Amino acid sequence: MSYSILSIEDLKVSFKTSKGTVTANESIYLEIKEGEILGLIGETGCGKTTLGKAILRLLSGKAKLEGKIVYRGTDLLTLTEKEMRLFRGKKIGIMLQNPSACLNPVLSAGRQIAEIYRYHEGMGKKEAEKKAGEMLELVGISSSRGCDYPHQFSGGMMQRVMVAIGLALRPGLLVADEPTKGLDQDTKLQIAELIAGLVRKENASMLLITHDLELAGSFTDRIAVMYAGEIVEIGKTAEIISNPKHPYTLDLLHSLPGKGLRMVSGQPPSLVSPPSGCRYHPRCSFRVEACSVAHPGLMGPEGERFTRCLLSEKGRKKETAAQPFLTAQAAFRCRCEGEGI
Ligand SMILES: Nc1ncnc2c1ncn2[C@@H]1O[C@H](COP(=O)(O)OP(=O)(O)OP(=O)(O)O)[C@@H](O)[C@H]1O
Ligand SMILES: [Mg+2]
Repeated sequence: MSYSILSIEDLKVSFKTSKGTVTANESIYLEIKEGEILGLIGETGCGKTTLGKAILRLLSGKAKLEGKIVYRGTDLLTLTEKEMRLFRGKKIGIMLQNPSACLNPVLSAGRQIAEIYRYHEGMGKKEAEKKAGEMLELVGISSSRGCDYPHQFSGGMMQRVMVAIGLALRPGLLVADEPTKGLDQDTKLQIAELIAGLVRKENASMLLITHDLELAGSFTDRIAVMYAGEIVEIGKTAEIISNPKHPYTLDLLHSLPGKGLRMVSGQPPSLVSPPSGCRYHPRCSFRVEACSVAHPGLMGPEGERFTRCLLSEKGRKKETAAQPFLTAQAAFRCRCEGEGI
């Protein structure tokens, strides 16, 4: 039996803006198991970074967080800021999106890593520098480059420095937000392999946030698919890829190079006033009338799969007027099978 290292229960994150309240995460239930790599995928603006930052309580003061985020028995949302600082970096490591904005341009890479050991572990300067050098070597950078500044590193090298920072204190959980964004294909794979390899070696867990389904398919144990602030499907990676149950997951799969490169049509909705019913219904080619009215819950488990769709098996069984659902579900499955998914 595998225990959860992090359990998110009914999380809602909203921001008050001049255009109204943006609800970036809603009704989020998510579990990350000990030793597991969970992928969080979805289009831009769907709320992935918000969720990653919510876990570390790194959102700006105007964010309102409701629900529970439990790390090994401690609800992080009940901690004071001072208590939370002990969790950040030490128990939960983070690699934020966009390393050039995260790294301090006027401090050398080695110094930025060494500062972590000085702050969290009270090490002296020499000892912290030695540990920083070891960490650089671990991520494939010669310790002699510890004196170099961020602008002296390539994109891939900067990501390696971010990996060193994220894993410096050997956290139980790493939240990695788009760690390969902007990198060429080869470098992307090298960085993903490096992070996943180190996380697995430490028997740590990781939330891998990415809009790259192919990457998530290669390096995760399970995948959670997010759409317009909600999780719409979650399950084992191989099953999500080979047998998607939510039409949005299917459409994302079709956008992969080997599966037709067909972009998901239409635009993601506003998170100030999302569509009624299923949030995906305006873009869904399988929608039936009820989809614009009934807001589906996350239904399951079916094996380990949960799906937020009226057309999913469980939803279908619950429906009394089943015929339109059966027809749409049959069409959905035919399309999956016809296209080799
Ligand atoms: N501090 C904030 N104030 C107001 N709105 C915010 C804030 N942070 C995020 N949002 C809004 O929340 C929504 C989700 O943003 P988020 O950055 O979490 O998306 P994302 O899935 O990470 O996108 P990307 O793939 O582009 O990184 C967006 O509509 C964004 O504008
Ligand atoms: Mg993001």
